[in-house]
Amino acid sequence: MPIPAHVPPALIYDFDHFSSPEVVRDPHFATARRLHGEAPPIFYSPRNGGLWLVTRSEIGLEILRQTDKFSNNPVFNRAKLFDPPMLPVQSDPPEHTEFRRILNPKLTPGSVNALEPGIRECVREIIDEIRANGGCEFVEEVGERFSVTLFLKLAGAPLSDRAELVRMAIKYTKSPDFNDRQDAMTELAAYLQAKYRNRQVHPVDDMLTQLATAKLSFRELTESERSGLGVMLFLAGLDTVKSLLSFFVAYLAKHPAQYKRITDDPALIPAAVEELLRVHGIVTLERGATHDFEYRGVQFRRGDRIALLTQVFGLDDQAVDNPYVVDFDRRISPHLIFGAGPHRCIGSHLARIEIRVFLEEWCKAFPLLGLKDNAEIKTAGGVVWAPTELPVVWPI
Ligand code: HEM
Repeated sequence: MPIPAHVPPALIYDFDHFSSPEVVRDPHFATARRLHGEAPPIFYSPRNGGLWLVTRSEIGLEILRQTDKFSNNPVFNRAKLFDPPMLPVQSDPPEHTEFRRILNPKLTPGSVNALEPGIRECVREIIDEIRANGGCEFVEEVGERFSVTLFLKLAGAPLSDRAELVRMAIKYTKSPDFNDRQDAMTELAAYLQAKYRNRQVHPVDDMLTQLATAKLSFRELTESERSGLGVMLFLAGLDTVKSLLSFFVAYLAKHPAQYKRITDDPALIPAAVEELLRVHGIVTLERGATHDFEYRGVQFRRGDRIALLTQVFGLDDQAVDNPYVVDFDRRISPHLIFGAGPHRCIGSHLARIEIRVFLEEWCKAFPLLGLKDNAEIKTAGGVVWAPTELPVVWPI
């Protein structure tokens, strides 16, 4: 990919957020050390079609708030010009507020708190099935099964569709190729449209019905918007919690003293979750430049792509004291793992409860945990970073 003329050589740095060796081997610590140590805070990488990458959290926060310059609207970022558009994330106010209102009722703290007993039951069922085996491949057998089952129940989709839906989510989040990602969205949109038709005739109390029957206050939803709302929700809900739980369990299996602290004192788990969230960002957020402008000494041209590496924001030594020290006693664990500004994650309450309840039950069931044969854990980079496999063992 030729480097555009407005990019000065001093700001070009070769890094691939899908597959650089650090991302695969030690995605958070080694990537943060490399980027914060050598790369400019905003740099241009020729990889993946050519885009700007941002590594510092203060700059990321500013960008997420400056929607007039750094937009989510795909007309300014053709790499995201999918059909259907992902909503609400690819919209601006006033529509954005209305789209978010449609998703909100089942994701408010009140609605999500009521799900806690069901979340606990789900993790206990999985643990009961695997306990006697002395170990498991965590990513698929536990992380995926737990988070995807809960999400499908909330959405109202049958559990038998799990493997098919996860395949679509992975195709979107792990492929650098636009056509693969568009294919995943087309398949998911067709899946959702069939479900919507059913719910329009047979409404029930679930998220699919909410989407199938939703209206904006000032006009009807188009079919494309209705599909786009479901596509975004499914892509966001299917892959993220699984990925985070896998990173957390990998970290805890490698750090037995810290694992012992939370198994001995479960009251520490909420603070441990925030600290683990700080060092395990997973999402690459993309924006497009709305016009030509200069920001922090960098010249942007209309249509430039800008990716924010939230994966390393919590390890930013300009924002956090001793960022590489994972300390469950920190009073504040600053991170932007759920984004910021108008598009801040609407599923964050659900994600936090799922993770806390999961760890409470897991720590109780398995006070000792290790990696099988000291396995090396590999990560797939991309839009959502995630461990590919995680073999863990416990004494029986
Ligand atoms: C730990 C897991 C999760 C992480 C790290 C995460 C992260 C994020 C981030 C960073 C954004 C901002 C996107 C942007 O600004 O471009 C976002 C938006 C969003 N997330 Fe999550 N998410 C998680 C779980 C979930 C879950 C479980 C759901 C659904 C049940 C969900 C639904 C959404 C939706 C619908 C948006 C778009 C919000 C808007 O545009 O107003 N997320 N998420």
